[in-house]
Amino acid sequence: MKIFIIISLLLVAPVSVAEVDAETGLIIADGYKVVKKTCTRCHSASNIIQYSGTRLTWLGLIRWMQNTQDLEEFEADKEKQILDYLETNYGPKEAAYRRAHIPSFLMPPNPYRSLATIKFVGLKDHYKLDETLTVDLVIADFPAYSKGRFDLWAAIHLPNKPDDEFVFLKGTASEPLFNSLKPQSFQVSLETVNSTYSVLKNFTIPSVEIGKYVFYAILVEKSANPLTGTDITRSNLAVQTITVGD
Ligand code: HEC
Repeated sequence: MKIFIIISLLLVAPVSVAEVDAETGLIIADGYKVVKKTCTRCHSASNIIQYSGTRLTWLGLIRWMQNTQDLEEFEADKEKQILDYLETNYGPKEAAYRRAHIPSFLMPPNPYRSLATIKFVGLKDHYKLDETLTVDLVIADFPAYSKGRFDLWAAIHLPNKPDDEFVFLKGTASEPLFNSLKPQSFQVSLETVNSTYSVLKNFTIPSVEIGKYVFYAILVEKSANPLTGTDITRSNLAVQTITVGD
């Protein structure tokens, strides 16, 4: 049985499983020798293996070590080799290493960029069927240097629905529309301001389904789709669960 499992794993495994250096654990690929020689003097390679980021993230980290940790400066060509290696083999986790069928807006945001914080305010944990609820979204800590405009998305996962099915909020708090399964933004083209947005006001919970309702919200770049886009989120994903019952 065990052997059978191993064989089937081998059959479905991706063609190129990266080979790693036995001594350091670094992925063996173009540039790995220069990285091994340059980057494992002060700390082990596990620092590198656990880290991930874009080329800019890596460059920023190298500059930080050069400015504060006595890392020497590199010739342009050597720096390029190092960055090529890091970018290719330890690039951002988001797109490359996660299961593709999970919507990207359910994944943790890229930790190497500052993001606004967003949260639901006003929800209780538990509601009765014909009770009314009022909920706001509060956006705060918007990074001062952020430019551009943003879209706010809000969606609800209803009880007994497939994991990847959401209803998307549209309309206004007093006249909400959320019967659409089609991904769409809730508020468009917001400026970079910290604000409170009314999501639902005195909304009467319809007597359809009891169970768990999960509210989601996220801020993304204008016109971007958080279900398909990568690197477009501009806030954390706000998640709040309520239960509706007797
Ligand atoms: C002169 C010493 C030195 C060299 C050489 C050096 N580093 Fe570092 N590095 C440090 C110090 C000090 C820290 C902070 C303490 C720690 O995490 O071990 C650090 C931290 C790190 C971290 C962890 C950052 C974090 O926030 O978790 C990574 C990744 C890293 N270095 C990558 C590299 C890479 C890539 C190279 C080669 C280009 C390199 N280092 C070469 C001194 C060095």
